Amino acid sequence: MSTVTCKEIHIGTPEHEQELALRGRVLRGELGRPPVPEIFPWDDQSRRYVALADDAVIACLLVHPREGLSKVFQMAVEPHWRGKGVGPKLMKFVLDEERKKGATGFFLHARHYVVHYYAGMGFEPVGDPFEEIGIPHQRMELRFLSEPTRSNG
Ligand SMILES: CC(C)(COP(=O)(O)OP(=O)(O)OC[C@H]1O[C@@H](n2cnc3c(N)ncnc32)[C@H](O)[C@@H]1OP(=O)(O)O)[C@@H](O)C(=O)NCCC(=O)NCCS
Repeated sequence: MSTVTCKEIHIGTPEHEQELALRGRVLRGELGRPPVPEIFPWDDQSRRYVALADDAVIACLLVHPREGLSKVFQMAVEPHWRGKGVGPKLMKFVLDEERKKGATGFFLHARHYVVHYYAGMGFEPVGDPFEEIGIPHQRMELRFLSEPTRSNG
């Protein structure tokens, strides 16, 4: 199997184009909608992370830093890469990176069928389910209990 690596990417790069295409195909197309990504008002102010295999974007995840909890959104894995640990690997990378940048916690809106999946990564359900894009969702939160260990070196 190809090696999977995770990294932050930036707007205007070929990886950004691939991220947008993946979001459109997976997060919209798989719902039977036009495979065009939903662009949020905070999209351009968000940090964008991807997993790569053979130089191709196979997963993505965005974070919008906010006062209090940062918003994690648009998690998608290329269909033929699912079930291989790519999602959890990317999530761990992102949470570690964001924590180093000062994040103290995160929230996300989980589609109902992945609540157990995010729970396995440490997120906890908060509040009642609600509907978004025609799908039941659950707010979930993950709060760091202590400050990250900072290296002096
Ligand atoms: C969610 C996603 C990123 C997870 O990718 P992954 O890390 O490779 O993990 P998997 O695809 O194996 O999915 C994890 C779990 O969610 C379940 N799941 C994922 N998509 C599902 C769907 N459309 N319907 C029902 N269950 C689904 C899987 O069956 C699996 O359950 P299990 O742990 O009980 O086996 C990937 O399935 C995906 O891109 N899905 C479509 C986009 C999406 O729903 N994003 C999440 C938005 S909140």
